[in-house]
Amino acid sequence: MERFERMKKLEEKIEENLKHVKHKIAILSGKGGVGKTTVAVNLAYALAMKGYETGLLDADIHGPNVPKMLGIEHEGVYGDEEGMEPIKVAPHLKAISLALMLEKDAPVIWRGPLKMTAIKQFIGEVKWGNLDFLIVDLPPGTGDEPLSIAQLIKQSNAIVVTTPQDVALLDSRRAVNFARHLAMNVLGIIENMSGFRCPHCGKEINLFKVGGGEQAAREMNVDFLGRIPIDEKIVVDGDIGKPFVTEQNEASEAFMKIVEKVVKKLGM
Ligand SMILES: Nc1ncnc2c1ncn2[C@@H]1O[C@H](COP(=O)(O)OP(=O)(O)OP(=O)(O)O)[C@@H](O)[C@H]1O
Ligand SMILES: [Mg+2]
Repeated sequence: MERFERMKKLEEKIEENLKHVKHKIAILSGKGGVGKTTVAVNLAYALAMKGYETGLLDADIHGPNVPKMLGIEHEGVYGDEEGMEPIKVAPHLKAISLALMLEKDAPVIWRGPLKMTAIKQFIGEVKWGNLDFLIVDLPPGTGDEPLSIAQLIKQSNAIVVTTPQDVALLDSRRAVNFARHLAMNVLGIIENMSGFRCPHCGKEINLFKVGGGEQAAREMNVDFLGRIPIDEKIVVDGDIGKPFVTEQNEASEAFMKIVEKVVKKLGM
Protein backbone atom coordinates (compact mmCIF):
# COMPACT_ATOMS: atom_id res chain seq x y z
CA MET A 1 0.00 0.00 0.00
CA GLU A 2 2.76 2.35 0.98
CA ARG A 3 4.58 1.56 -2.24
CA PHE A 4 1.45 2.22 -4.26
CA GLU A 5 1.06 5.61 -2.60
CA ARG A 6 4.67 6.45 -3.26
CA MET A 7 4.32 5.58 -6.95
CA LYS A 8 1.18 7.66 -7.27
CA LYS A 9 2.97 10.61 -5.69
CA LEU A 10 5.81 10.24 -8.17
CA GLU A 11 3.39 10.17 -11.09
CA GLU A 12 1.67 13.31 -9.84
CA LYS A 13 5.03 14.94 -9.48
CA ILE A 14 5.86 14.14 -13.11
CA GLU A 15 2.61 15.67 -14.29
CA GLU A 16 3.18 18.76 -12.21
CA ASN A 17 6.76 19.00 -13.42
CA LEU A 18 5.82 18.81 -17.10
CA LYS A 19 2.95 21.28 -16.80
CA HIS A 20 5.01 24.15 -18.16
CA VAL A 21 5.97 22.31 -21.33
CA LYS A 22 3.90 23.35 -24.36
CA HIS A 23 4.63 20.38 -26.62
CA LYS A 24 6.10 17.01 -25.70
CA ILE A 25 7.45 14.94 -28.57
CA ALA A 26 8.50 11.33 -28.00
CA ILE A 27 10.76 9.76 -30.61
CA LEU A 28 10.02 6.09 -31.13
CA SER A 29 10.77 3.22 -33.46
CA GLY A 30 9.74 -0.37 -33.93
CA LYS A 31 13.31 -1.52 -33.45
CA GLY A 32 16.77 -0.39 -32.41
CA GLY A 33 19.51 1.31 -34.36
CA VAL A 34 17.35 3.20 -36.86
CA GLY A 35 18.45 6.67 -35.77
CA LYS A 36 16.09 7.67 -32.95
CA THR A 37 18.77 9.34 -30.88
CA THR A 38 20.19 11.08 -33.96
CA VAL A 39 16.71 12.44 -34.74
CA ALA A 40 16.01 13.39 -31.09
CA VAL A 41 19.30 15.26 -30.64
CA ASN A 42 19.12 17.09 -33.97
CA LEU A 43 15.43 17.94 -33.65
CA ALA A 44 16.06 19.44 -30.21
CA TYR A 45 19.09 21.33 -31.49
CA ALA A 46 17.27 22.64 -34.56
CA LEU A 47 14.31 23.87 -32.50
CA ALA A 48 16.69 25.66 -30.13
CA MET A 49 18.50 27.23 -33.11
CA LYS A 50 15.14 28.62 -34.18
CA GLY A 51 14.83 30.26 -30.77
CA TYR A 52 12.33 27.88 -29.15
CA GLU A 53 12.98 26.96 -25.51
CA THR A 54 13.75 23.28 -25.82
CA GLY A 55 14.51 20.38 -23.49
CA LEU A 56 15.89 16.97 -24.39
CA LEU A 57 15.17 14.07 -22.08
CA ASP A 58 17.17 10.91 -22.61
CA ALA A 59 14.90 8.19 -21.29
CA ASP A 60 16.85 5.29 -22.81
CA ILE A 61 18.62 3.91 -19.77
CA HIS A 62 20.34 0.99 -21.46
CA GLY A 63 22.11 2.73 -24.25
CA PRO A 64 22.02 6.37 -23.27
CA ASN A 65 23.83 7.93 -26.21
CA VAL A 66 22.42 11.43 -25.96
CA PRO A 67 25.25 12.85 -23.80
CA LYS A 68 27.84 11.60 -26.27
CA MET A 69 26.00 12.95 -29.31
CA LEU A 70 25.71 16.33 -27.58
CA GLY A 71 29.28 16.30 -26.27
CA ILE A 72 28.15 16.66 -22.65
CA GLU A 73 29.20 13.25 -21.34
CA HIS A 74 31.68 14.76 -18.87
CA GLU A 75 29.19 17.16 -17.31
CA GLY A 76 27.98 16.62 -13.77
CA VAL A 77 24.36 17.00 -12.69
CA TYR A 78 23.60 19.38 -9.83
CA GLY A 79 20.55 19.30 -7.66
CA ASP A 80 19.01 20.20 -4.32
CA GLU A 81 15.79 19.39 -2.47
CA GLU A 82 13.89 21.15 -5.24
CA GLY A 83 15.20 18.92 -8.00
CA MET A 84 17.92 18.47 -10.62
CA GLU A 85 19.25 21.09 -12.99
CA PRO A 86 19.37 20.02 -16.64
CA ILE A 87 22.62 20.75 -18.49
CA LYS A 88 22.65 23.94 -20.55
CA VAL A 89 23.90 22.68 -23.90
CA ALA A 90 23.45 25.69 -26.16
CA PRO A 91 21.31 28.84 -26.21
CA HIS A 92 17.66 27.75 -25.62
CA LEU A 93 18.66 24.09 -25.20
CA LYS A 94 18.80 22.04 -22.00
CA ALA A 95 19.29 18.30 -21.76
CA ILE A 96 19.39 15.56 -19.17
CA SER A 97 20.24 11.91 -19.23
CA LEU A 98 20.25 9.23 -16.61
CA ALA A 99 23.66 8.36 -18.03
CA LEU A 100 25.08 11.54 -16.53
CA MET A 101 24.32 10.17 -13.09
CA LEU A 102 25.79 6.74 -13.68
CA GLU A 103 29.36 5.65 -13.68
CA LYS A 104 30.87 5.83 -17.14
CA ASP A 105 30.76 2.50 -19.01
CA ALA A 106 28.91 0.84 -16.14
CA PRO A 107 26.23 -1.49 -17.50
CA VAL A 108 22.75 -0.64 -16.33
CA ILE A 109 21.34 -3.78 -14.78
CA TRP A 110 18.53 -2.52 -12.62
CA ARG A 111 15.50 -4.67 -12.84
CA GLY A 112 11.76 -4.29 -12.70
CA PRO A 113 10.26 -2.04 -10.04
CA LEU A 114 13.55 -0.53 -8.90
CA LYS A 115 14.26 0.61 -12.43
CA MET A 116 10.83 2.16 -12.93
CA THR A 117 11.07 3.98 -9.60
CA ALA A 118 14.43 5.42 -10.60
CA ILE A 119 13.07 6.55 -13.98
CA LYS A 120 9.99 8.10 -12.41
CA GLN A 121 12.07 9.94 -9.87
CA PHE A 122 14.37 11.12 -12.61
CA ILE A 123 11.57 12.43 -14.84
CA GLY A 124 9.76 14.01 -11.91
CA GLU A 125 12.73 15.92 -10.56
CA VAL A 126 14.29 17.69 -13.51
CA LYS A 127 13.76 21.43 -13.29
CA TRP A 128 12.87 22.30 -16.89
CA GLY A 129 11.10 25.57 -16.27
CA ASN A 130 9.02 26.89 -19.17
CA LEU A 131 9.60 25.01 -22.41
CA ASP A 132 8.14 25.26 -25.90
CA PHE A 133 9.26 21.71 -26.69
CA LEU A 134 10.42 18.69 -24.73
CA ILE A 135 11.93 15.98 -26.91
CA VAL A 136 11.99 12.51 -25.34
CA ASP A 137 14.35 9.83 -26.64
CA LEU A 138 12.66 6.53 -25.73
CA PRO A 139 14.26 3.08 -25.47
CA PRO A 140 14.01 1.14 -28.75
CA GLY A 141 11.06 -0.98 -29.71
CA THR A 142 7.53 -1.34 -28.42
CA GLY A 143 8.12 -3.56 -25.39
CA ASP A 144 7.37 -3.08 -21.71
CA GLU A 145 10.05 -0.54 -21.04
CA PRO A 146 9.27 2.09 -23.68
CA LEU A 147 5.62 1.47 -22.81
CA SER A 148 6.05 2.19 -19.10
CA ILE A 149 8.09 5.30 -19.82
CA ALA A 150 5.81 6.63 -22.56
CA GLN A 151 2.85 6.22 -20.18
CA LEU A 152 4.49 8.66 -17.79
CA ILE A 153 4.61 11.45 -20.37
CA LYS A 154 0.96 12.39 -20.68
CA GLN A 155 -0.45 14.14 -23.76
CA SER A 156 2.62 13.58 -25.81
CA ASN A 157 3.12 13.73 -29.55
CA ALA A 158 5.02 10.96 -31.28
CA ILE A 159 7.43 10.77 -34.21
CA VAL A 160 8.21 7.31 -35.58
CA VAL A 161 11.66 6.77 -37.09
CA THR A 162 12.15 3.95 -39.55
CA THR A 163 14.58 2.73 -42.19
CA PRO A 164 13.37 2.19 -45.78
CA GLN A 165 13.36 -1.61 -46.18
CA ASP A 166 10.08 -3.45 -46.62
CA VAL A 167 10.73 -5.34 -43.40
CA ALA A 168 10.86 -2.04 -41.55
CA LEU A 169 7.25 -1.50 -42.56
CA LEU A 170 6.12 -4.02 -40.02
CA ASP A 171 8.14 -2.31 -37.31
CA SER A 172 6.83 1.14 -38.06
CA ARG A 173 3.27 -0.16 -38.13
CA ARG A 174 3.84 -1.58 -34.66
CA ALA A 175 5.31 1.73 -33.49
CA VAL A 176 2.34 3.74 -34.84
CA ASN A 177 -0.08 1.36 -33.13
CA PHE A 178 1.92 1.64 -29.91
CA ALA A 179 1.58 5.43 -30.01
CA ARG A 180 -2.12 5.24 -30.81
CA HIS A 181 -2.69 2.79 -28.00
CA LEU A 182 -1.16 5.34 -25.61
CA ALA A 183 -3.37 8.10 -27.05
CA MET A 184 -0.34 9.95 -28.38
CA ASN A 185 -0.78 12.39 -31.24
CA VAL A 186 1.23 10.81 -34.09
CA LEU A 187 2.96 13.63 -35.98
CA GLY A 188 4.26 11.25 -38.62
CA ILE A 189 7.01 8.97 -39.86
CA ILE A 190 10.60 9.87 -40.74
CA GLU A 191 12.50 7.59 -43.11
CA ASN A 192 16.13 7.61 -42.05
CA MET A 193 19.15 6.15 -43.88
CA SER A 194 17.22 6.72 -47.08
CA GLY A 195 19.53 6.67 -50.10
CA PHE A 196 23.23 7.43 -50.25
CA ARG A 197 24.90 9.88 -52.61
CA CYS A 198 28.33 8.63 -53.74
CA PRO A 199 30.81 11.34 -52.74
CA HIS A 200 32.97 10.47 -55.79
CA CYS A 201 30.48 10.38 -58.66
CA GLY A 202 27.39 12.04 -57.13
CA LYS A 203 25.18 9.11 -58.09
CA GLU A 204 22.49 8.09 -55.60
CA ILE A 205 22.72 4.51 -54.37
CA ASN A 206 19.77 3.07 -52.48
CA LEU A 207 21.59 0.86 -49.99
CA PHE A 208 18.47 0.02 -48.01
CA LYS A 209 15.98 0.86 -50.82
CA VAL A 210 13.77 3.92 -50.45
CA GLY A 211 10.08 4.46 -49.85
CA GLY A 212 9.29 2.02 -47.02
CA GLY A 213 8.58 4.87 -44.60
CA GLU A 214 6.32 6.64 -47.05
CA GLN A 215 4.43 3.45 -47.76
CA ALA A 216 4.01 2.77 -44.05
CA ALA A 217 2.74 6.31 -43.51
CA ARG A 218 0.16 5.89 -46.27
CA GLU A 219 -0.99 2.53 -44.96
CA MET A 220 -1.27 3.75 -41.38
CA ASN A 221 -2.89 7.00 -42.44
CA VAL A 222 -0.29 9.24 -40.79
CA ASP A 223 1.84 12.00 -42.31
CA PHE A 224 5.15 11.27 -43.96
CA LEU A 225 7.55 13.85 -42.53
CA GLY A 226 10.48 13.26 -44.87
CA ARG A 227 13.64 11.32 -45.72
CA ILE A 228 17.13 11.69 -44.29
CA PRO A 229 19.86 10.29 -46.56
CA ILE A 230 22.76 8.19 -45.35
CA ASP A 231 25.63 10.55 -44.74
CA GLU A 232 29.02 9.67 -43.38
CA LYS A 233 29.10 13.09 -41.71
CA ILE A 234 26.15 12.11 -39.49
CA VAL A 235 28.23 9.29 -37.98
CA VAL A 236 31.35 11.45 -37.59
CA ASP A 237 29.38 14.34 -36.06
CA GLY A 238 27.47 11.99 -33.75
CA ASP A 239 30.72 10.55 -32.46
CA ILE A 240 32.29 13.94 -31.73
CA GLY A 241 29.18 15.38 -30.10
CA LYS A 242 28.29 17.82 -32.87
CA PRO A 243 24.66 17.87 -34.09
CA PHE A 244 24.73 17.51 -37.90
CA VAL A 245 22.03 20.18 -38.32
CA THR A 246 24.79 22.71 -37.71
CA GLU A 247 26.33 21.66 -41.06
CA GLN A 248 25.31 22.78 -44.53
CA ASN A 249 24.63 19.72 -46.65
CA GLU A 250 21.93 17.61 -48.24
CA ALA A 251 21.15 15.71 -45.02
CA SER A 252 20.87 18.81 -42.85
CA GLU A 253 18.70 20.57 -45.46
CA ALA A 254 16.40 17.55 -45.58
CA PHE A 255 16.30 17.51 -41.80
CA MET A 256 15.44 21.20 -41.50
CA LYS A 257 12.47 20.67 -43.82
CA ILE A 258 11.23 17.97 -41.45
CA VAL A 259 11.66 20.34 -38.50
CA GLU A 260 9.61 23.00 -40.32
CA LYS A 261 6.80 20.50 -40.84
CA VAL A 262 6.80 19.52 -37.16
CA VAL A 263 6.71 23.15 -36.01
CA LYS A 264 3.89 23.92 -38.41
CA LYS A 265 1.88 20.86 -37.41
CA LEU A 266 2.03 21.98 -33.78
CA GLY A 267 0.94 25.48 -34.70
CA MET A 268 4.12 27.16 -33.42
N1 LIG B 1 21.20 9.15 -41.85
C1 LIG B 1 22.26 8.57 -41.33
N2 LIG B 1 23.40 8.40 -42.05
C2 LIG B 1 24.48 7.80 -41.53
N3 LIG B 1 24.55 7.33 -40.27
C3 LIG B 1 23.47 7.47 -39.49
C4 LIG B 1 22.27 8.10 -39.96
N4 LIG B 1 21.37 8.10 -38.94
C5 LIG B 1 21.98 7.50 -37.88
N5 LIG B 1 23.23 7.13 -38.20
C6 LIG B 1 24.21 6.43 -37.35
O1 LIG B 1 23.69 5.16 -37.02
C7 LIG B 1 24.00 4.81 -35.66
C8 LIG B 1 22.71 4.53 -34.89
O2 LIG B 1 21.97 5.73 -34.77
P1 LIG B 1 21.22 6.12 -33.42
O3 LIG B 1 22.08 5.86 -32.25
O4 LIG B 1 20.66 7.47 -33.60
O5 LIG B 1 20.05 5.02 -33.48
P2 LIG B 1 19.00 4.63 -32.34
O6 LIG B 1 17.74 4.27 -33.03
O7 LIG B 1 18.93 5.69 -31.31
O8 LIG B 1 19.69 3.35 -31.72
P3 LIG B 1 19.28 2.58 -30.34
O9 LIG B 1 18.08 1.79 -30.69
O10 LIG B 1 20.47 1.77 -30.04
O11 LIG B 1 19.00 3.64 -29.31
C9 LIG B 1 24.81 5.98 -35.12
O12 LIG B 1 26.17 5.70 -35.22
C10 LIG B 1 24.45 7.15 -36.04
O13 LIG B 1 25.49 8.10 -36.15
MG1 LIG C 1 19.24 5.63 -29.20
